[in-house]
Amino acid sequence: MSEQTPVAPSREAILEVRDLAVDYGQGRSALHALAGVDLTLHRGELLGISGESGSGKSTFAATITRLLRPPGRIISGSVRYHPRHDPPVDVLTMAEAALRRWRWEEVSVVFQAAMNSLNPVARVSSQLTDVLEVHRPEMDKRARLDRARELAELVGIHESRLSAYPHQLSGGMRQRIMIAMALALDPEIVIMDEPTTALDVVVQREILTRMSELRARLGFSVIFITHDLSLLLELADEIAVMYAGKIVELAPAEDLYRSPRHPYTEGLLGSFPSLVGPRRELVGLVGSPPDLRRVPPGCTYHERCPIAQDVCARVDPELKTHDRRSVACHFRSPGPGPVAVAAAPDSGLPSGLIEVRDA
Ligand SMILES: Nc1ncnc2c1ncn2[C@@H]1O[C@H](COP(=O)(O)OP(=O)(O)O)[C@@H](O)[C@H]1O
Ligand SMILES: [Mg+2]
Repeated sequence: MSEQTPVAPSREAILEVRDLAVDYGQGRSALHALAGVDLTLHRGELLGISGESGSGKSTFAATITRLLRPPGRIISGSVRYHPRHDPPVDVLTMAEAALRRWRWEEVSVVFQAAMNSLNPVARVSSQLTDVLEVHRPEMDKRARLDRARELAELVGIHESRLSAYPHQLSGGMRQRIMIAMALALDPEIVIMDEPTTALDVVVQREILTRMSELRARLGFSVIFITHDLSLLLELADEIAVMYAGKIVELAPAEDLYRSPRHPYTEGLLGSFPSLVGPRRELVGLVGSPPDLRRVPPGCTYHERCPIAQDVCARVDPELKTHDRRSVACHFRSPGPGPVAVAAAPDSGLPSGLIEVRDA
């Protein structure tokens, strides 16, 4: 990575997740937290993942970085990482030593509430130089301090604040320190899982904006997880919407905003169109996500879905893809043009195309 050459987002895969399934617990009481997730992160891009609490976002982040702890168990799937110059590696079968190196050098993860994990009795500068001391033993003390200053500047922290203790800094400042630590070793991928609390929308937006700028400058890729879909709309390249352990919609951010296809995405965006008549505005979603120990048959969303038909309670819709859009719904197609779908064979609706609305 070089600071001088901005890297244009490309469509080269850097991380490919296939058919990932994770349970918590075993047997009849197993909770199916991920039920077959396919998702690709592209080099230099910012991929947003959204969905209500409990949809499996954190489980996804932990599993793809091999940080899943018992009772979490990987049931199936693969995670393929493409280094810049070497052949791809399978993260899920990587040996411990290689994994530790990978996790710091190639990927860094900032988990929920991470800013509370800053060491309260160590100055900011030494938290940064400690990372370097462990992973860059060849650097001398002066070089480490220089790099700490550089990192502080990168995230907009004045050098004078480096001697502060975490409690002397605002929440926003502590977040920036976390970002600086995540970038200390020039990772290729940065994964951020709800890097602030639910109420801190302003700080979360600030972090996302900064991440978006930095990845454009430094060329790394980002997975940014938040339950707040609206936050992702302007800053993500691509957005995956998760529901009950599955991806129900995937689209470039702009397309998702202009024409959400899945009724759940529409619910998250705060409105959905009716099948007939003018667009109805609804605030938020009705009901709550299903119990993942007893997932209902059919589409996991059907009990809350405003356009559900009989078929939805029986048949789980596949995630269908057209170009860069995917959607898992019997009545919504990922294709272009008017959002028209073939009525499912036994849906009770007339067969043929039903025009829902213009995309
Ligand atoms: N350690 C755990 N043990 C048992 N169940 C868990 C554990 N962690 C998460 N879960 C369950 O897995 C599901 C997905 O959770 P999570 O991945 O945290 O979703 P999100 O990050 O979208 O809120 C939820 O039903 C949650 O209760
Ligand atoms: Mg979470």
